[in-house]
Amino acid sequence: MVWAGIIQKLDFIQTTGIDAIWLSPIFKSPQVDNGYDISDYRDIDEMYGSLDDLKQLVEEAHKRGIKVILDYVPNHTSDQHKWFQASLNKESGYEDFYVWKDAVIVNGTRSAPNNWVSEFKGTAWEWSEQRQQYYLHKFSIAQPDLNYRNPDVVKEMKDVLRYWLDFGVDGFRMDVAYALFEDSRFQDEPLSGDPTAEPGDYTYLSHIYTENQNETLDMIYQFREFLDEYNANQSYPRVLMTEVYSDINTTMLYFGTADRSRLGAHFTFNFWTFITGLQKGFSGVDLLNSIWNWIDHMPEGYTSNWVLGNHDQNRVSTRFGPENIDALNMLVSILPGVQVTYNGEEIGQENGEVTCAEGYDPQAIKNCSTFNETSRDFERTPIQWDSTVNAGFNNGTKPWLPVSQKYLQTNLQNQNVTGPGVNSHYKVYKDLLSLRKAFKNESNHYFELSNAGDILGFQRFTEQFLQNYVFLYNVGDEPQTPENINVYNFTTNVLVRSTNSIYNVGDAFNTSQPLQAKEAVLFSVY
Ligand code: NOJ
Repeated sequence: MVWAGIIQKLDFIQTTGIDAIWLSPIFKSPQVDNGYDISDYRDIDEMYGSLDDLKQLVEEAHKRGIKVILDYVPNHTSDQHKWFQASLNKESGYEDFYVWKDAVIVNGTRSAPNNWVSEFKGTAWEWSEQRQQYYLHKFSIAQPDLNYRNPDVVKEMKDVLRYWLDFGVDGFRMDVAYALFEDSRFQDEPLSGDPTAEPGDYTYLSHIYTENQNETLDMIYQFREFLDEYNANQSYPRVLMTEVYSDINTTMLYFGTADRSRLGAHFTFNFWTFITGLQKGFSGVDLLNSIWNWIDHMPEGYTSNWVLGNHDQNRVSTRFGPENIDALNMLVSILPGVQVTYNGEEIGQENGEVTCAEGYDPQAIKNCSTFNETSRDFERTPIQWDSTVNAGFNNGTKPWLPVSQKYLQTNLQNQNVTGPGVNSHYKVYKDLLSLRKAFKNESNHYFELSNAGDILGFQRFTEQFLQNYVFLYNVGDEPQTPENINVYNFTTNVLVRSTNSIYNVGDAFNTSQPLQAKEAVLFSVY
């Protein structure tokens, strides 16, 4: 059972220095979209174990000081959910639980109410013979959109939050938080003008009526108010993290209003800095600009966060090359704010190998000719624990996706090494987390970012310079000397260095010695 599996790994998670784990959806589901199609919000899928097992996981995690965050999917349910079945039958109280619309009939031919498209391609409307109406599905046909204009839906979904909070979980990652409401006039969306998009592609239209509606933001603020009321009687706050892919100004609204009169998520995921913002280039300047872009847009008084990847993006080691993983892990760890890790990033795991026949991703398996470009299965293959069968993920039965063949080289056991001069991606990651614990004890951190050529420099320090850390990373392909980077160059002491570094921990850092391509070093300065 998965819970038992995770419970077995809790000691390791604790030793690594991880404070919280987020489980992607574990609720009852037909698994059309890897659990993002929920048929019962109050029970879990038996393939993961029982509710009692989950209780045990939460308790065991808490004993070790680890918080447990669940995935909350408010925008849509499974079409197998009893609410949808009742809505199909127009049962009293459920008629408007979902977004139903009449067909448009032109010359006797039926068509969808408007041109809206699903994020998984094609029309966002599905005809129901039974109801003789279309329902909206922003994702797969099996994921009908709930109707947030119905107060009963809002009440039910808040009750779901309360149920899990009472169960003992520590917070929620909120799925597609930007999509809860759609404009009530149901007008066609305009073309985006994206020359690479074809009709039916999600990017073909500009989503002015289906994303980031004012009512959606209000709903997020309501969810936060709900959580704050709950938190008022708790010894520590339960948290809300929103998933929002939007332009950067709009993304920031999910933190709350600028005057803080209404709060939103404790943090909205920063997909900008290392994902969206680096699609066009990956140089020292690109990184510098992308980091500043996020910081410059952050509203005052909110907490930042740094994300390298997730289950919807090619793994970061595949996007930028595994030789960059240590530097990137260093950045997300020392930049001010919450560090988010997608499992496998700590060992530099790359995308796995999956064929169309083996894949599950509903946005990809319909068309095998584009599977390699569109599937998210590659970043979802099991984590590589060790070099035994199935990389130690299980005892040999076929996992839901094949284990990557790279597991013999890249696995946690190989990297969980100690000793003088020994280094590994995992060791870098673990050392960073232990350094972060020291940051926590110091308030008022300041930082500076700079670059000289392809070397990115970052300095983090406290008011009296009691703690003063400098990070240097040669993003380029050739050795470069970091002497032009303006650091306080007194006694220096290497604390963490990338696996390709010529330094050892404790070495004095030498600003006139070239940094090798992709080498990254974090040192303290006195
Ligand atoms: C966002 C999730 O991260 C993704 O995996 C899923 O397919 C969609 N939401 C639909 O729920």
